[in-house]
Amino acid sequence: MTKAFLVHEPGGPESLQFEEIRVGDPGPGEVRLRHTAIGVNFIDVYFRTGAYPAPQSPFTPGLEAAGVVEAIGEDVDDLNVGDRVAYASAPIGAYAEARLMPAGRVVKVPEGIEDRTAAAAMLKGMTTQYLLRQTVPVNAGDTILFHAAAGGVGLMACQWAKRLGVTVIGTVSSDEKAELARQHGCTHLINYTQEDFVERVRELTDGKGVDVVYDAVGKDTFLGGFDCLRPRGHMVLFGASSGAPDPIDPALLQGKGSVYLTRPSLFNYIPDRNSLLACVSELFEVMQDGTVRAEVRQERPLSEAADAHRDLEARRTTGATVLIP
Ligand SMILES: NC(=O)c1ccc[n+]([C@@H]2O[C@H](COP(=O)([O-])OP(=O)(O)OC[C@H]3O[C@@H](n4cnc5c(N)ncnc54)[C@H](OP(=O)(O)O)[C@@H]3O)[C@@H](O)[C@H]2O)c1
Repeated sequence: MTKAFLVHEPGGPESLQFEEIRVGDPGPGEVRLRHTAIGVNFIDVYFRTGAYPAPQSPFTPGLEAAGVVEAIGEDVDDLNVGDRVAYASAPIGAYAEARLMPAGRVVKVPEGIEDRTAAAAMLKGMTTQYLLRQTVPVNAGDTILFHAAAGGVGLMACQWAKRLGVTVIGTVSSDEKAELARQHGCTHLINYTQEDFVERVRELTDGKGVDVVYDAVGKDTFLGGFDCLRPRGHMVLFGASSGAPDPIDPALLQGKGSVYLTRPSLFNYIPDRNSLLACVSELFEVMQDGTVRAEVRQERPLSEAADAHRDLEARRTTGATVLIP
């Protein structure tokens, strides 16, 4: 029998119920995967609480995992039973020992990248790729502000930005997180629970402001971020760990210096097989050359998914968390 988490009613971490499920055989274009490691992401919290509506009820959360192909359906040409694979994609349902998955959303994991590393890297790493290389392609000499720099996406973004020659100003909530982000390539650290991050950014940039603000904290930081931007700079709002920001008047963008605002999602950047492969091959390249490491900093048995959510929501984690079935 296979076990998976099911959410029958959105709510707190206790709404994650570990139950027996029947996975069945893969249909055309599908594979059945036996998971070896499952990535935990803040988006799993949004679905669990109902902040993001789930596609069905009950549902199994999770959008990122690594594993082994256990069975293949018809019309699957490029995968074989026994292949080591990973994904970061809908359909939701990664918090499970095994599952069915569209073969087109799954990629083979190269030699030299462990399963747990792949499970830690797929969603956070592809997010970093599109944020730094596609949403606003940043270049050597640019300066960016990256909120929650010691988080899962944050630590990968610090390393990747350093690789590109970009100066990163990172915000964090503790000295320990500041040290960790510094070790991962963040140039300047601001503890935004103690200091006014807007004032510090203006000081650090000699009043000029940064080229791009990457903000997935949301409610607590969004408005302040506009005062950190240079004229015609970019505000990239990509999450809401502290809650959804209040709506703004578009005239604010003019008032803050004709700045740009976007609210991107990974899944709009990898809508088809080609864009997925382009994104993930760049990710595997920077991982394999050692410049961007996806470190598993918290590991728990799959059965402890609720505790993993408690830690993530209470800001007790750094870098990536994985669940092991
Ligand atoms: N749009 C996309 O494509 C996309 C893709 C992936 C992730 N995301 C977003 O990126 C963000 C980071 O995701 P992640 O999985 O790597 O999580 P994470 O950064 O490891 O965890 C969230 C971090 O946010 C900070 N934070 C600030 N205020 C908080 C609050 N009130 N409650 C909880 N945390 C708070 C905490 O860092 P400090 O303690 O240092 O403040 C916390 O560690 C999330 O908002 C996620 O939704 C978006």
